[in-house]
Amino acid sequence: MMSKRTLTRQVLLFISILSLGSVHSQVSYSIPEEMVKGSLVGNVAQDIGLDIKRLKSGKARIYTGDSGEYIELNKERGVLLIKERIDREALCGQTTPCAIHFQIILENPMELFRVTVEITDINDNAPVFKKNEKMFEISESAVTGATFMLERAMDPDVGVNGLQSYALKPTDKFQLKLKNQPDGSKKVEMVLQKSLDREKQETISLLLTAVDGGEPQLSGTLQILITVLDANDNAPVFTQEIYKATVVENSPKGAVLAKVSASDADKGLNSVVSYSLSGGTEDQSDAFEIDSKTGELRLTGQIDYEKAKHYQMFIEAMDEGGLSDSSKIIIDVIDVNDNSPFINVMTKSGSIAENAMPSTVIAMISINDPDSDSNGHLSCDINENIPFTIKTTSNGFYSVVTESELDRERASEYNISVTCSDEGVPSLSSSVTLTLQISDVNDNAPVFERSSYEAYIIENNTPGLSIFTVKARDDDWNQNARVSYILEDSSVNGVPVSSYVSISADSGVVHAVRSFDFEQIKDFQFRVKAQDGGSPPLSSNVTVKIMIQDQNDNAPQVLYPVQTGGSLVAEMVPRSADVGYLVTKVVAVDVDSGQNSWLSYKLQKAADRALFEVGLQNGEIRTVRQVTDKDAVKQRLTVVVEDNGQPSRSATVNVNVAVADSFPEVLSEFTDFTHDKEYNDNLTFYLVLALAVVSFLFITCLVVIISVKIYRWRQSRILYHSNLPVIPYYPPRYADTLGTGTLQHVYNYEVCRTTDSRKSDCKFARPGSQNVLTMDPNLTGTMQRIQSEMSILDEQDSQLEVSQFNSDFSHLYDHSKQLNQSSHTGK
Ligand SMILES: *[C@@H]1O[C@H](CO)[C@@H](O)[C@H](O)[C@H]1NC(C)=O
Ligand SMILES: *[C@@H]1O[C@H](CO)[C@@H](O)[C@H](O)[C@H]1NC(C)=O
Repeated sequence: MMSKRTLTRQVLLFISILSLGSVHSQVSYSIPEEMVKGSLVGNVAQDIGLDIKRLKSGKARIYTGDSGEYIELNKERGVLLIKERIDREALCGQTTPCAIHFQIILENPMELFRVTVEITDINDNAPVFKKNEKMFEISESAVTGATFMLERAMDPDVGVNGLQSYALKPTDKFQLKLKNQPDGSKKVEMVLQKSLDREKQETISLLLTAVDGGEPQLSGTLQILITVLDANDNAPVFTQEIYKATVVENSPKGAVLAKVSASDADKGLNSVVSYSLSGGTEDQSDAFEIDSKTGELRLTGQIDYEKAKHYQMFIEAMDEGGLSDSSKIIIDVIDVNDNSPFINVMTKSGSIAENAMPSTVIAMISINDPDSDSNGHLSCDINENIPFTIKTTSNGFYSVVTESELDRERASEYNISVTCSDEGVPSLSSSVTLTLQISDVNDNAPVFERSSYEAYIIENNTPGLSIFTVKARDDDWNQNARVSYILEDSSVNGVPVSSYVSISADSGVVHAVRSFDFEQIKDFQFRVKAQDGGSPPLSSNVTVKIMIQDQNDNAPQVLYPVQTGGSLVAEMVPRSADVGYLVTKVVAVDVDSGQNSWLSYKLQKAADRALFEVGLQNGEIRTVRQVTDKDAVKQRLTVVVEDNGQPSRSATVNVNVAVADSFPEVLSEFTDFTHDKEYNDNLTFYLVLALAVVSFLFITCLVVIISVKIYRWRQSRILYHSNLPVIPYYPPRYADTLGTGTLQHVYNYEVCRTTDSRKSDCKFARPGSQNVLTMDPNLTGTMQRIQSEMSILDEQDSQLEVSQFNSDFSHLYDHSKQLNQSSHTGK
């Protein structure tokens, strides 16, 4: 390479020598700049054609004028050498070509040679920017196409070694634009190709490279730093499209329900967001508020799940620049068990019959609870231990029904308390009480207090005497419990029991209808029916046994010895009889019973006390001593037989005893017995007296009857013009019984004027009432029949010795008058 250059130089030098040949020689050299000191520029002696000696003798030197001494002459060798490093850029700047001109001056003879050394450029300078950094602040809102001025680079080298081109990297946002200037220089600009986004890239760094064309190529760089300034190009954005929140109803005011937030990608003031609610209904906006700064949603009103279960609102976020976003918030209200169940009794019955079938509906109720889910799930119950149950029919409807059979006698009223509760925690409940009356049904028969009754009555009672009381209880109510007592038909000894006893229907008191005689009847029984007033009535019956107690109303009766008026019967006692000889035995009976019939025997009167005695218990008459001759043949003993009753009754019997060995002896002695004058006289007197009394009473009776008859007839004719004379009637036996004097027992008949029914013609009246028979002359057949009935009754009466007619004439008269009047008024 070097040799090639040298060759070129030599060629040039040869040419210049040729041109200088005639005058002073001139040589040119060309060297690159920056050669090191001492480097050979050219063999000037040879080129000029001078030898070394000449140079020395000629004192050759270089004359440069005022320009620097870059090159020196080496006289020894005859060559030009670099004396000082040559910087073309310093020497010539941008001027080309760049050459150093000097002369070589010789003395002895003076000669002048001109030398030109051309300095050629080498690429020793890189392009350089004034500063190696440049800062820009560009708003992100800058439009594409915006141009930004850049520095130019400087390269002192010339030609190809000078500045050739620029490059800008990276190229995605900006592009380099070079503009040729009139002066040939270039304007360096960068153009915005794509809009900036601070939010993506806040700073951009670019590198501008300037390159020259040298070999090797040199370059300089400029760091470009771009700060992207914020513009309000971003709206706030909510973090969620829909916010969800829940609120428990009845929450206190001020509770924070949710926090919304929106982000704004901008910076500074452009990113300050404020929140607001929009798009809610009136009550919603009353109930909520949003903190415009923090985005907290607060409760400001009352939340009632039963009014609204959801709230839906729009929220808006707005930055300072007016850009906004909106979102939605849905607030679900959570139910709280704040409502008690509501019970509505739709229908109910106040009372129900005790025989109501099971499952009879008593009440229908509906319930409802505005709370939701389990807070509104209701169940109903009724109090326990009552025969009712509650059934659910369909949604929200319940019916209270009877569960089992009712019994008013056990419980006549129920308080049915229906309690409904929800399933909330804690659960709320409410209750209603239904009062139900159980109405009575006649389902209980009367019950006698005892399963059977026994009663005692002492004989010879007064008729109408209350013997005792039966009592039956009926558990039903009111009319169904009103018990009447009825004597059931039966007969005692062939006689209807109703002629023995009667019973008071209301009180159950059993009365004796007649006087009882223990000796006739000792006991009898009958049934009493107790019947209630229900419909149909229920009844039960009980057996009543009446026992008649004995009274000492019968004196002892002596059966032996037989007492006849003129008895000649005598007991014979032989004179030879031993002591204790059984003379006879007095036999007596007492129809009474018990104590009243215990008999004892005593001697009342004895001619000779010492001879006989009577066994106290057995009535045996025995001798107590030996019979002597002094003892009379005729002995008359009077034995008193006494019963043990209180007071006791007694009978006496005369016993004739003949103390003799032969019958004729006895006969002669006993003629006195047959002609007992005193006894016969008394008897005759009594008979006469009785006859007189009977005759008198009969005549009186006749007179009274006739006068009564006339009186009646006249009265009815005159006062009432009646065709129905009323004749008092009394049975045939009326007069006969007159004299007996035994009519303490009163018994009455009343005959009604009915012809058909025999039963109602004649019935027993209350004891003690008066009796009369009214007679219609047209009804003589009836009369006869009644008379025959009466005679039958008489026969019964005489058997039983109980029924007697009243013989009191004055009573009869008064009563017949009364009855007559009542029969008229009855018409
Ligand atoms: C039912 O309630 C009423 C009133 O509270 C009360 O007077 C009555 O005794 C109650 N009845 C029963 C059977 O508990
Ligand atoms: C009396 O009661 C019994 C049962 O106690 C009954 O068998 C009978 O038929 C009843 N008698 C009358 C006449 O009602």
